[in-house]
Amino acid sequence: MTSLAKFSGNEAKYVLEFLESGGKGSKSWNQRLEEAFAEKMGVKYAVACNSGTSGLHAAVIAAGVEPGDEVISPALTVVMDAFAVVHAGGTPIFADINPKTQTVDPEDVRRKITPQTKAIIVVSLQGLAADMDPSMSLAKEHGILVIEDSAQTMLGTYKGNMAGTLGDIGVFSFENKKHMTSGSEGGMIVSNDAGLATAARKFAGIGYKHMTARAGRTSLAMSEVQDPDYERFDTLGLNYRMSEVSAAVGLAQFEKISELVSRRQAVAKIFEACTDDCDWLTAQEVPADYVHSYYTYSMIYDGNEQKNVSWKEFYNTYLELGGDGFYGACMIPYLEPVFKDQVVNGVQLGEGLCPIAEALQPKIMQFKTNYRDLDLAKTKASILRKTIDRFN
Ligand SMILES: Cc1ncc(COP(=O)(O)O)c(C=O)c1O
Repeated sequence: MTSLAKFSGNEAKYVLEFLESGGKGSKSWNQRLEEAFAEKMGVKYAVACNSGTSGLHAAVIAAGVEPGDEVISPALTVVMDAFAVVHAGGTPIFADINPKTQTVDPEDVRRKITPQTKAIIVVSLQGLAADMDPSMSLAKEHGILVIEDSAQTMLGTYKGNMAGTLGDIGVFSFENKKHMTSGSEGGMIVSNDAGLATAARKFAGIGYKHMTARAGRTSLAMSEVQDPDYERFDTLGLNYRMSEVSAAVGLAQFEKISELVSRRQAVAKIFEACTDDCDWLTAQEVPADYVHSYYTYSMIYDGNEQKNVSWKEFYNTYLELGGDGFYGACMIPYLEPVFKDQVVNGVQLGEGLCPIAEALQPKIMQFKTNYRDLDLAKTKASILRKTIDRFN
């Protein structure tokens, strides 16, 4: 199949079923999605939430992060990892990256661990898992937790295990551009630890005391809830729950997840074939024993130094020749205006904290892989080739 409409599976059917049931089906769509997700990912618990960002916040809270605690996250990632830490009152600490894989460098994580470190957020970037074993050993050695941010990675694997399920608690995103979506926003928290899953579900579910790792809502006896003395809440929480309509769409998307991921991998191969002999465009390295799920096809552009052609000139030439653009890497979180040169919960943020990531970020080109039509991907890749040849 070369073409795949975005919502070509059971999305409409499931939403209609939800509407026709008046919202009173025998099993909630959230529960169905959570069960399917946990089974495929091979984890005990899955907790649906309304975004990857809210999932990260709940995961950080579940990890017990409080004011005074430090949480280490990579310098090359979205700003939301640090936002989650700061919202919990924690201090974000940034670790540099491995320039080949673009994921966090465990040696720099080691250097940044202090007695205040409570957790490490390890990010699977662009569909590629980070090197998890060293982070897990470090965490064990220091008695800290690993939160895995797998928002960009679905069915990526590390040594045969699913990215997102390797840490103590993991988070996925179903935002519109991701491998799958639950409409336009959504996320999933996973864990094998009942305590962490319960804490995440409670925080994301307004702190209801009856919530457990496995179940969002339980059927309470009317006599219990129709009682002014009934106490509902034993935990501080926010409402980060996923709506049933989202869960219905998400379940239908998740049923096709292997196909959705394979298509992105096929597009990545097309882009790889047209760029792999260009020595000033270097693709993210995929170590042996990893499966990359290609949220984007990410390359480091050295054309500035080697061809005297700036990132923007290359971009504009690609557009001129009929290409449809590509993304730059997100700004280093601590260089975003919200953090740059600020003291955030006791730590001074600004240039120089992670020199490898700072040098690499402006060079990254992220090519889209979410073409629904492989022929269109081939056309765009051949335009990329023409763009390269123009400067070769
Ligand atoms: C690495 C990473 N973490 C977290 C998020 C946040 O996910 P969401 O957009 O669903 O809130 C994203 C989304 O872009 C992401 O790429």
